[in-house]
Amino acid sequence: MYGDLDKVLFEEEEIAARLDSLAAEITADYHGLDLTVIAILNGSLIFMADLLRRVPLPLQLDCLRVRSYSGMVSTGQVTFDPQTLPDLRDRHVLLLDDILDSGHTLTQVKPLSVRSCVLLRKLKQRARPVEADYVGFDIQDEFVVGYGLDYNEKYRNLSVIGVLRQE
Ligand code: IMP
Ligand code: MG
Repeated sequence: MYGDLDKVLFEEEEIAARLDSLAAEITADYHGLDLTVIAILNGSLIFMADLLRRVPLPLQLDCLRVRSYSGMVSTGQVTFDPQTLPDLRDRHVLLLDDILDSGHTLTQVKPLSVRSCVLLRKLKQRARPVEADYVGFDIQDEFVVGYGLDYNEKYRNLSVIGVLRQE
């Protein structure tokens, strides 16, 4: 699996160190507030588990299954079932996603939300003008896998984040 990577962008230790500061920021910002975190599945699963165990707040956690990617391209069509969302009235909502790419996912889901947090943000011209409020790392516009990110549902369980070899 690791042999399929062209290069590693972030090693385990670097991701862990960045999560420490991201979690500290979120903890300070939401102290005393009724926070519901909505993790966008499947990509944010591993990020969510590691990040939220560093956030000592009485938060509520729920998940939303959202799809937009097929292979290495965004279809531009974001699908999710709003009925699977919990009651968010009077709650501060933080959306968690693995990566901000074209922006389709965050613009479709964000009207429900106050803020959003992504582990990775691609530096590129987005299809939709949307920004994330918390960002782990900025990366070049390359297709990455690992630490929850997939290529056709594979490589999510890599401990590092890397760029997949072309072939
Ligand atoms: P957006 O809707 O284009 O902003 O992209 C968000 C979704 O696309 C993420 O939740 C990922 O599932 C997927 N995605 C975008 N870029 C990559 C990548 O480089 N590797 C793996 N998945 C990606
Ligand atoms: Mg994906």
